[in-house]
Amino acid sequence: MKDKLWNGRFSERTDRSVERFTSSIQIDKRLYPYDIQGSIAHCRTLEKAGVISEQEADMLIEGLGRIKRDLDHGKFDFDDSLEDIHMHIEARLLQDIGKVAQKLHTARSRNDQVALDVRLYLRDATCQVIDGLVNLRRTIVDFAANHLDTVMPGYTHTQRAQPVLLAHHMMAYYEMFRRDCQRFRDSLKRTNVMPLGTAALAGTTYPIDRRYTAELLDFPEVSANSMDAVSDRDFVIEFVSAASICAMHFSRLAEEFILWSTTEFNFIELADAFATGSSIMPQKKNPDVCELIRGKTGTIYGHLVALLTMMKALPLSYNRDMQEDKKPLFETVEILLDCIHLFRRMLPKITVNKQSMRQAASEGFLNATDMADYLVSRGIPFRQAHACVGKAVGYAVSKNKELHQLNLEELQQFESDICEDIFDYLTLEQMIERRLSEGGTSTDNVKKAIDSARKQLDQENGS
Ligand code: ARG
Repeated sequence: MKDKLWNGRFSERTDRSVERFTSSIQIDKRLYPYDIQGSIAHCRTLEKAGVISEQEADMLIEGLGRIKRDLDHGKFDFDDSLEDIHMHIEARLLQDIGKVAQKLHTARSRNDQVALDVRLYLRDATCQVIDGLVNLRRTIVDFAANHLDTVMPGYTHTQRAQPVLLAHHMMAYYEMFRRDCQRFRDSLKRTNVMPLGTAALAGTTYPIDRRYTAELLDFPEVSANSMDAVSDRDFVIEFVSAASICAMHFSRLAEEFILWSTTEFNFIELADAFATGSSIMPQKKNPDVCELIRGKTGTIYGHLVALLTMMKALPLSYNRDMQEDKKPLFETVEILLDCIHLFRRMLPKITVNKQSMRQAASEGFLNATDMADYLVSRGIPFRQAHACVGKAVGYAVSKNKELHQLNLEELQQFESDICEDIFDYLTLEQMIERRLSEGGTSTDNVKKAIDSARKQLDQENGS
């Protein structure tokens, strides 16, 4: 019977099916760098408290360093009977350096240990996500800057509504990802709290300096309540919830690219390197990457619900249920980093069919609101102008023409004040440039938005 680190009171060997069921090693093994980092800080804390000697601390730390190197090089056997990464490392340390290894777990429990490991892991992962999003925002701004003269239809209800610049459309995504960055930065504040030294749930009898541990591990704060520290997974839920909103943004952009690359829209073409073919239809070029990004959003939402449900009504403090937090968290991080990476690479390689976009913006009465505005500029109240343009649209439909294709006499049937200058007023360029209200699509506004985005990005990179 393989000796477990906790089986002093047990007289019967754990059933194999129980070992298999309770083991989390295949999932939590990726926490090993953080587990070792945490244990090293713990050794120094024990040494400072006089619980172990300097020599013992050095031996433990050297041993941990060797284990880290073996794990880095894949020279480590995993075994379900040792449950999780914490037990694996401790058992190996005992094997490697002997009895002194038994002192490592003084003033610590796996409950505060795992809370620390997950926080260390998530702190790194959140920083990677933020960095990735900052870079993606930069890619979006560059793309937008190249399309300050590309006019396209803006949509509401997936119906053509009013002309906008493609740059303006893309800068809407810049704003979404900017808010995502804010959300991740905010969640990071609550992840960045040091739980070690709360031990099983009630704190420890050893005179350890938890602030010293926090300093060693670069945490600005220590957890205030030991029972909360071992049973709090809010920070995981907050991250996955920010990730869900971010994934929702990705799914919207992915969906637009899918639509825009159809023959029906013909607005863009994805690069061959970011599309896939069909095994039966030789003509096909499918937007599978975008579809999978759209699809994986559902997986992330599922993980959020799994985590919320796992924590629902759990009595204080630690419960083993909480072991189930890792799979959804790790997978969410993986998917999110993949989506960020793929969009960053895919976006600059998109071919934009400017002509098609422009054509689509010139058909379907996208200048109807502007014609009403024109009438308002002649002193007609907006509601009356709206009704008058409505009639003109009905007439144009019956003639199979656009509003700007009607001649002056035809237009004057609806309002005698209409003059020749209406035709200029209704051009795409004029319609865009008149939208000067703050945040609107005029070229000037969009240029300003791009400039201020670049400033924001430079500042965020510097911070
Ligand atoms: N593998 C466990 C987890 O991830 C570690 C904590 C186990 N604690 C315990 N008392 N069984 O939650």
